Amino acid sequence: MIMTWRHGFVMLLALVLVLDERQADGAVSAEVQKLIHQANLNGPYVGLVIPNLFELSPLLRHPNFTSTNFTIPFSGRRFRFGIIGEKRVILVMTGLSLINAGITTQLLLTLFKIEGVVHYGIAGNANPSLNIGDVTIPQYWSQTSLWYWQRYGDGPLDELALESNGDYTREIGLLKFANFTTNVTACPSDDNLLNNVWYQPEEVFPIDGAPEQRQHAFWVPVDSKYFRTAKTVEDLKLEGCLNSTACLDEKPKVVTVQRGTSGSIFLDNAAYRSFIYSKFNVSPVDMESASLALICLQQRVPFIIIRALSNLAGGGSAESNEVHIFTSLAANNAVTVVIEFIKQLSAKMRLI
Ligand SMILES: *[C@@H]1O[C@H](CO)[C@@H](O)[C@H](O)[C@H]1NC(C)=O
Ligand SMILES: *[C@@H]1O[C@H](CO)[C@@H](O)[C@H](O)[C@H]1NC(C)=O
Ligand SMILES: *[C@@H]1O[C@H](CO)[C@@H](O)[C@H](O)[C@H]1NC(C)=O
Ligand SMILES: *[C@@H]1O[C@H](CO)[C@@H](O)[C@H](O)[C@H]1NC(C)=O
Ligand SMILES: *[C@@H]1O[C@H](CO)[C@@H](O)[C@H](O)[C@H]1NC(C)=O
Repeated sequence: MIMTWRHGFVMLLALVLVLDERQADGAVSAEVQKLIHQANLNGPYVGLVIPNLFELSPLLRHPNFTSTNFTIPFSGRRFRFGIIGEKRVILVMTGLSLINAGITTQLLLTLFKIEGVVHYGIAGNANPSLNIGDVTIPQYWSQTSLWYWQRYGDGPLDELALESNGDYTREIGLLKFANFTTNVTACPSDDNLLNNVWYQPEEVFPIDGAPEQRQHAFWVPVDSKYFRTAKTVEDLKLEGCLNSTACLDEKPKVVTVQRGTSGSIFLDNAAYRSFIYSKFNVSPVDMESASLALICLQQRVPFIIIRALSNLAGGGSAESNEVHIFTSLAANNAVTVVIEFIKQLSAKMRLI
């Protein structure tokens, strides 16, 4: 075939159109953009961010969750739509740990019209006055796995590298490895090559601040209205038995507590558990909540976190972690509280 200039022009035009369409879509295909647009016409939604499948499943099965059978798969996640009480909700599962929780929460807030975020799941318990099966709702969250690991020989009086730049700080406090030495007879017990770790705040870039102008955050408060609403679900009755024979020693309860903390660390160590409890007064310890708190802080979206205690973070028996026994009980209790909390939000909405 002989190609005329006219053919060539048409082909070029076609190519430009194809490229244009791709560029306009960015990473979000036109098809997904259409679904998102359609979903947002029914917004705003309460976003429910959930770490794992075993925590998501009891909510999907709960009689007071109504699925609309509408889902949007995107970027390795699935956004599921439904109704609890009179609130329209979007459910999304994050996967384990801080990075997954952060990415998923940011996607949720970027793509959809969200009035607030409720995060729930199971957690370890650092607070000796609480029990497995209890559902905790902390007022503050921190991320305690951002560390400055100090060189051997330096101590609390030595300035950290880049401290004068404002990159690192000694304000939050330290973990001193020598304090955890055991069975020492011949050698000094106040000396350890692992030296000290200084806890660091996260850099945050709020949506209403100047781009690239960092601020710092360590303790992030949950939304004060949500926290007041949470206090109204404290008298909720929770399940205390796995089956007809296996029951918890103490009847589980819903409690608002001062603080929780997260890290990209599965905590199963009694010494560290008791250290962070005495240092920070934290009750639940988990691997996702603080990410969500930090993203919601930056995006200025109200949030609350509901975590059911499923293990003692290493403080239980020496033989094993309790998590494999009580996971389903704790996940169910968390879901019970989440459903009631969202119903209370709906009730408040009706009063306005
Ligand atoms: C579902 O909601 C109804 C009405 O509020 C309530 O009576 C019932 O106990 C709830 N079911 C469960 C399993 O929580
Ligand atoms: C969603 O699908 C289930 C199972 O097919 C069905 O029973 C239910 O009525 C559907 N719900 C809606 C709101 O369409
Ligand atoms: C280490 O232990 C000593 C003695 O118990 C205590 O006074 C000190 O506060 C501890 N230091 C840290 C950083 O935990
Ligand atoms: C201390 O050492 C003894 C003898 O090696 C050992 O049996 C014991 O378990 C050790 N205790 C701790 C807390 O490590
Ligand atoms: C109840 O659960 C416990 C712990 O999982 C299990 O060992 C026991 O066999 C169960 N009992 C019944 C009657 O299902």
